[in-house]
Amino acid sequence: MMLILTAVLAYLLGSIPFGIVMARAFGLGDLRNIGSGNIGATNVLRTGNKLAAFLTLLGDSGKGAAAVLIARVLVGEDGAGVAALCAMLGHLYPVFLKFKGGKGVATFLGTLLALSFPVGLAACATWLLVAVVTRYSSLSALVAALLAPIYTIVFYHLHGAILVAVLSALIFYKHRENITRLRAGEETKIGKK
Ligand code: G3P
Repeated sequence: MMLILTAVLAYLLGSIPFGIVMARAFGLGDLRNIGSGNIGATNVLRTGNKLAAFLTLLGDSGKGAAAVLIARVLVGEDGAGVAALCAMLGHLYPVFLKFKGGKGVATFLGTLLALSFPVGLAACATWLLVAVVTRYSSLSALVAALLAPIYTIVFYHLHGAILVAVLSALIFYKHRENITRLRAGEETKIGKK
């Protein structure tokens, strides 16, 4: 029973669309009509408002981390894994936005940091490194997602790597259009409109 309640709580937490909330709070309009139309921090940055983008990043990663940490206290380590998945599903398919959500990168990084800090740190460092070199947010996310299961085997445990691989697969699935644009050389770089 506690596991189900934790899963629902994690899903609802994950469903909070911080990008939409911040864009509205800062008077930037509906994020779904801006840039890529995505509800994440990268797209908030396209409005030029760095603070709103930073707060979106903080909120979207924080909700993932919070879901995992709460579940760990209430149900234990297995509950933490379930919460990570549910928080991700919440962000990707939020009940508050008619199930049309984001791409899950910040939430993914937040859940990883809470599941295993070294794994999260390695994934964040990967994202940052690729972003600094290429200026592509989506490519940074894809490389971090690709390597995250390996980091999990090295720094956490094999069992966890299966969960992380599922989360990574969801990230790839949600970046289908970005992958097409990257291949065509048409992807927008960080900070560009
Ligand atoms: O965090 C999402 C990012 O990987 C891609 O976002 O807006 O460029 O599609 P966007």
